[in-house]
Amino acid sequence: MFDVCVVGSANLDLVATVNRLPAPGETVPGSTYAEYPGGKGLNQAVAAARSGAATAFVGAVGSDGAGTALLEVMRSDGIDISGVAVASVPSGRALIFVSAEGENSIVVVAGANDTVEATVPPSATVVLAQLEVPVDTIEYAFRAAKAAGATTVLNPAPVKPLPDSLLALCDVLTPNEHEVELLGGVDRLRSLGAAAVIVTRGAEGAELHTSSGVAYIAAHPVVPVDTTGAGDCFSGALCARLAAGDDMLGALRYASVAAALSTTQPGAVPSMPPRAAVLLALSLSEE
Ligand code: RIB
Repeated sequence: MFDVCVVGSANLDLVATVNRLPAPGETVPGSTYAEYPGGKGLNQAVAAARSGAATAFVGAVGSDGAGTALLEVMRSDGIDISGVAVASVPSGRALIFVSAEGENSIVVVAGANDTVEATVPPSATVVLAQLEVPVDTIEYAFRAAKAAGATTVLNPAPVKPLPDSLLALCDVLTPNEHEVELLGGVDRLRSLGAAAVIVTRGAEGAELHTSSGVAYIAAHPVVPVDTTGAGDCFSGALCARLAAGDDMLGALRYASVAAALSTTQPGAVPSMPPRAAVLLALSLSEE
């Protein structure tokens, strides 16, 4: 039995830093180039594992060097990879520009992530998914997870129209302020069955919507260098703490600090903070 099972994507991130993001048709000079492990699913799984959760991953990598490297990253963070397939296509790749302010723009080429098949996820307290693998796969996994008594959490990113049949299977949703509007708003998501909708607003903090009303959490103050994967860090850390038995507000406070810390390091997977760093920042913020 795992604490958290993440059903999702794994990518190799090809990252160029630029002074400012290019406009359409414009060429701008880059300052640095680096390759990092990433993908919303893998980022979330690593965030959960580094938050102390026994974590399993369900996904697919390609039969290429990137796939081998991504599997090694999962193993080195202690993530169970028995649900990871190796497909005869290239691994997913993300082309990322990061500006001097730490903002980014991203193009994802799904590759192997498009081949992730509907499967019953390993038994876990919390099952977490995002939208970089087929929607039918997520719906199948959530249906099985709920039948087994797990809590289901959907981070609806990158956002797209979703069937009510999937939304009705989500116990918790973690959209950002743009995604929640595209999905019809908090009230619609709650009316379809979500017990909690957490709207993340970057440096403006987060809102927790439940049957008890709305609670606001301020963002932890940091100087960001790269915001890539911050939302993934939030969802992964949140699930780890929910699986550990924290109440929603406690888990949210932890996740909010973890996400802020992730923006202080470059790259997606490499920036996911260990639990000790989050606990230290939390304790300092409470003094
Ligand atoms: O959320 C950030 C992630 O989006 C990156 O790691 C990239 O791979 C894309 O999936």
